[in-house]
Amino acid sequence: MSSTKETQPTIFVIFGGTGDLNARKLTPALYHLYLDGWLPEHFAIIGSGRTPLSDDEFRAKLLDGINEFSRSGKAEKDKWKDFAQHIVYQAADVKDAATYKKFGQRIDEYKKEWSVQPNVIYYLAVAPEFFPTIASNLAKSKLASDTTCTRIVIEKPFGHDLESSRELNRLLSDIFDERQIYRIDHYLGKETVQNIMAFRFANALFEPLWNRNYIEHVQISVTEQLGVGERSGYYDGAGAMRDMIQNHLLQLLCLVAMEPPVNFTADEVRNRKVDVLRAMRRFTPEDIRESAVRGQYAAGWMQGEQVPGYREEPGANPKSNTETFAAVKFFVDNWRWQDVPFYVRTGKRMHRSASSITIQFRDVPHFVFPPETAESWQQNRLVISIQPEMSIRLQVQAKRPGLDMMLNTVDMVFDYKGTYTSQAPEAYETLLLDTMLGDQTLFMRGDQVEAAWDLLMPILNSWQGRASQSFPNYSADSWGPEIAEALIARDGFHWFTLPLNGHE
Ligand code: BG6
Repeated sequence: MSSTKETQPTIFVIFGGTGDLNARKLTPALYHLYLDGWLPEHFAIIGSGRTPLSDDEFRAKLLDGINEFSRSGKAEKDKWKDFAQHIVYQAADVKDAATYKKFGQRIDEYKKEWSVQPNVIYYLAVAPEFFPTIASNLAKSKLASDTTCTRIVIEKPFGHDLESSRELNRLLSDIFDERQIYRIDHYLGKETVQNIMAFRFANALFEPLWNRNYIEHVQISVTEQLGVGERSGYYDGAGAMRDMIQNHLLQLLCLVAMEPPVNFTADEVRNRKVDVLRAMRRFTPEDIRESAVRGQYAAGWMQGEQVPGYREEPGANPKSNTETFAAVKFFVDNWRWQDVPFYVRTGKRMHRSASSITIQFRDVPHFVFPPETAESWQQNRLVISIQPEMSIRLQVQAKRPGLDMMLNTVDMVFDYKGTYTSQAPEAYETLLLDTMLGDQTLFMRGDQVEAAWDLLMPILNSWQGRASQSFPNYSADSWGPEIAEALIARDGFHWFTLPLNGHE
């Protein structure tokens, strides 16, 4: 450990312990924190789920998860054996008071054994309909009454719309202090996403240019090759807007658009982000058609394999009106960003999986070279690649070597692979560690979540009120529906799609 941060004795109670999230993300993340020496001497993981399982059966399931999904491959036998000692299982019915009594007994046993008051982190890796039940039962059984050492972690989706998110916030705030509530947006834990703040606020170079005088427009794009697959039970009630834009993409936008915080404390950073959401231009019914488009994927071929359309996915509604693609043009109405469009898009079954932010700077005020010099002319761009490539590229014009004066675009590149030898931690490692340390900087505050819903409600209501007549409107392995091209082309731009070497 090369940091002064120190974790205290901790008990994790994971609701939804037998679920996918725990197997794929949470346990592999805790295991890495253990390997890297971040976990305290005294820690315990109590997994809970409906299925009756012995501790060993539960551990075996988690080991399979690590072997399949961990960033460092298969678990080392001895290390896993030591780590697994800290894991126990408790079959639980979240509606039953007896469940919570048993948790309480277990927690008391650890307290006695360790002779300390541990932090207790309740992790709700369950479907959102269980959030209120679990939170209320934790309160009733007095498992959350110590506001200094109990915390609750809530996975997204946080509400389904503005009203339900307010209701959930009200319920949680009756039980917990805001400083106990950790609302997860896993994008905020990604190494490259955290770096946006470092890049902006640890360098003097960019800030003078970071405004409407020099920036022409911004694009934020998160495209995925994966389809909805087995997740239509959840996804059909959500869609791309709720699943991705309300949280991940708006958070990225906030990081690009926020004012410099006075310091790097949780509330200061989150205040600056919420300022952005509040400054975002509201959508009137008239401009929704101009500013927001949706799509749904049809069947097709991806990398030589035939894939079903969204409506044919297992369990999906064959007449579903759910969007699997969404693109929106936003504006941030403040001095820094007035009239600079922020184009945001996300979709499933797209041609490539890539998340990136591109800042396009304004053109030179006057072109001094003969026109033929600029065969591959491009305005300056800053491309922040979040995944799978992890890099920041500043694209500038340079003279091509040769006897004549020809210009082309070259990159000044910072890439993680070439710069660092150590592997970047997974988002969940960062977020779980921060939960243990009590640092909420990378978590969503209640007002942020509500501000994001508030912004999007007019679009969501409008889409719900008028079923799309054109669905499915893009084929698998494409870049989304044509209307998304039109959305941006109307302003004289096009979506940037970076091929694997980083150039358009
Ligand atoms: C989740 C969404 O929050 O993020 C998924 O529910 C999406 O639909 C996923 O696939 C994308 O995350 P990542 O880290 O793979 O970009």
